[in-house]
Amino acid sequence: MKKKKIIIAITGASGSVYAKLLLDNLLTLKEQVDKVGVVMSDNAKEVWRFELGNEDYDNYPFDFYHKMDFNAPFASGSAKFDTMIIIPCSMGTLGRIAHGISNDLISRAADVILKERRKLITVVRDTPFSLIHINNMKAVTEAGGIICPANPSFYSIPKTIEEVAQTVVSRVIDLAGLEQDSYRWNE
Ligand SMILES: Cc1cc2nc3c(=O)[nH]c(=O)nc-3n(C[C@H](O)[C@H](O)[C@H](O)COP(=O)(O)O)c2cc1C
Repeated sequence: MKKKKIIIAITGASGSVYAKLLLDNLLTLKEQVDKVGVVMSDNAKEVWRFELGNEDYDNYPFDFYHKMDFNAPFASGSAKFDTMIIIPCSMGTLGRIAHGISNDLISRAADVILKERRKLITVVRDTPFSLIHINNMKAVTEAGGIICPANPSFYSIPKTIEEVAQTVVSRVIDLAGLEQDSYRWNE
């Protein structure tokens, strides 16, 4: 399998645990991954500090880029990053992507992934949804993106917050085309 070049964008929706778990999972999938570029919004850092009580995002051995760094390789299609995962994805970021407003590295990278017909996975998080959110999800889907809501499942009988959150992260890893052992219904 060709090793993947993956962009991870973390935005200021609730659910920093999803981002943390995905970064942890990627550490164990190193042999399938060529590059991981990470970009966080300002509110992503604030929500992470609030929900997880630490700044551990600074400790991951991936390439981190400032959210206004348009010199990041994946700001251009020529760098050939094949997959972008926005986890969690705020309604603000979703709206900017749906309307092509590439005013930071996250919305620009998503714009590039869509125009190059590569894989965009948005782990949207809010509840309930307004018609604006639903229309934005429709627009991103029509442009080729995947809406993967941060909706955990419970049929694996998870016991901890991390086990609950992992049910979402495992689906994201499947969608990204990475191979990982995880709970599979009736297997
Ligand atoms: C603790 C906290 C939780 C939030 N949860 C959500 C959420 O679940 N969904 C959402 O769309 N916005 C949420 N927000 C608001 C976003 O952070 C805000 O709209 C921000 O402008 C999004 O910008 P960003 O996408 O660049 O991070 C939350 C904010 C805070 C402080």
